[in-house]
Amino acid sequence: MPLPQEFLQELKFRNSIEEVVSSYVNLKRRGSNFVGLCPFHNEKTPSFTLYPDSGSYYCFGCGAGGDVITFVMQIESLDYMEAVRFLAARAGMSMPESTNEDAAEVRRKARILELNREAARYYHSCLLTKEASAHLGYLKQRGLTASTIKRFGLGAALKSYDGLLRHLQSLGYSAQEAELANLAVRGRSGYRDRFFDRVMFPIIDLRGNVIAFGGRLLPGSEGTAKYLNTSDTPVFKKSRNLYSLNIAKNSKADYFILAEGYMDVIALHQAGFDSAVAALGTAFTQEQAKLISRYKSSVVLSLDSDEAGQKAASRAIGILNDAGIEVKVLKIPDAKDPDEFIKKYGAERFKGLIEGAANDTEFFLLKARDKHDITATDGRLAFLNDAVSVLAEVKNPLERDIYAGKLADEFEVSKSTLISQIKNAASKNERTQRKKAEARIINPSYRRDDVNPERAQYPRAAHAEERLIKILIMHPDLFDKITSSISADDFVTEFNGEVFKSVCSVLTEHNTFDISYISADYTPAQMGRIVEIMNTGVNSADAAAECADLIKVIRAEKEKKERGDPSGWSDSDIINVFNELRENKGGNK
Ligand code: UTP
Ligand code: MN
Repeated sequence: MPLPQEFLQELKFRNSIEEVVSSYVNLKRRGSNFVGLCPFHNEKTPSFTLYPDSGSYYCFGCGAGGDVITFVMQIESLDYMEAVRFLAARAGMSMPESTNEDAAEVRRKARILELNREAARYYHSCLLTKEASAHLGYLKQRGLTASTIKRFGLGAALKSYDGLLRHLQSLGYSAQEAELANLAVRGRSGYRDRFFDRVMFPIIDLRGNVIAFGGRLLPGSEGTAKYLNTSDTPVFKKSRNLYSLNIAKNSKADYFILAEGYMDVIALHQAGFDSAVAALGTAFTQEQAKLISRYKSSVVLSLDSDEAGQKAASRAIGILNDAGIEVKVLKIPDAKDPDEFIKKYGAERFKGLIEGAANDTEFFLLKARDKHDITATDGRLAFLNDAVSVLAEVKNPLERDIYAGKLADEFEVSKSTLISQIKNAASKNERTQRKKAEARIINPSYRRDDVNPERAQYPRAAHAEERLIKILIMHPDLFDKITSSISADDFVTEFNGEVFKSVCSVLTEHNTFDISYISADYTPAQMGRIVEIMNTGVNSADAAAECADLIKVIRAEKEKKERGDPSGWSDSDIINVFNELRENKGGNK
């Protein structure tokens, strides 16, 4: 896996972080750095900072950060190697001869994909056997035609504990490989098939690979989950894929239809709506929104009419809007989902629903209207208050104006009063957003800390550790002095210990530290923290003396931790540290 350092240096040299980032973010110079609106969360005041000197970025709002490779990983939803390939292509460089380990990984993934394809073939052929009469009967009863079944490659997992496994083994695959693909599980008495007596839906990626499966229970049969899906495997990450995108991406429609599940998507396709897709057994993710935005700029949400579906719709609207996608929301009357609606009323009427679909603002206004009794005065007032909050989120002033006008007419109130209320609410939102962002900067431990969960528990130690790491990076000449008096095992928080270890091994090998040496080893969130550590705080007047103090603090805290004491901090200690952090925030040198 490791790429040669010279290659990475060259890659970074030819893909300057300023150039790469500015093709996604509008950057403005601030001192020796740049700032801009963070592309990874929704904000109105810039907290995304680019440090050209160290080739890194960090967002004070959401904590994202890293080097140019991490940036591409995050913005393009790629894994590390994919991001490297992306940048190599961008700079017209060819990838280095892959190392052995790398090749082994590639071969392993290819094997899993082949194995998945064989499994899909097997399930599909089982569907035509006598043992699968219930499976096939179910699909027919759901109204699917033979050609739809074929087009989606549907299949049957029979009532057999190892039918698939034996078939795969006869083709030369091992049980371990089947387990890696999440098609077999290891039990007390050996391996057995993961899917038992289910209707099978293969999940196919944009390149046509079978990457995963969903399996539905037959009605009346016993089992835990109605749908069982492949967990994440080396070739599948559910939050990054959409069911049926491989077909829908070729649709002539200028929008995708986002439905809730497999059966809805299939029913929609069969009825001629060939741009239907669905999330895969999870809530809709940002990565999926980004995937969608590569192909089309508009989405019609067609989720179930129940409360869960409507909640999911509200959430998905936010995520889609953040990705710059225009959203319309279907209201499906007299049916629980699009599948049922089409069965009852036909495709033509469904087409009509799409044409008349409310945009996102209308959707939220209708929801607010449903909540109140607008025949009564307080109900009308309460509705108007909610409507003001909805319109305060609308960014386009013309759009605001139109809705305010309609509401003013309908409810016989003055339009200018409504407009000024909306403006007030909007600027209030902005203020609270800014305050929240600031609170996150001042007090990082109020945020649930996934990167270093021990940081909130041992703030004094974590602060000293981070400071020590920063000084070591800025003053590599202190390397011997520092490493002779402390090692990673002496650190109180595990994450900082790891970072310390990485910095030390980079310094041993290269004498100076550069974050691109470690970006393969950490996730974007972790990289964000490391960049934050590097860029926060002033440079020390007497680094050697400060190191000695910091090491004392870390050792004392470690002892306390081992004795089981809590950190022993008073409120005023905490306030002092946060004030210090605030004064130093963003200070680079
Ligand atoms: P639904 O229960 O609405 O499924 O769940 P559906 O597709 O409409 O299925 P039918 O019509 O009852 O056959 C919606 C989606 O949520 C995921 C699946 O992706 C499903 O398609 N899901 C649901 C699971 O992953 N596991 C479950 O147990 C249930
Ligand atoms: Mn459903």
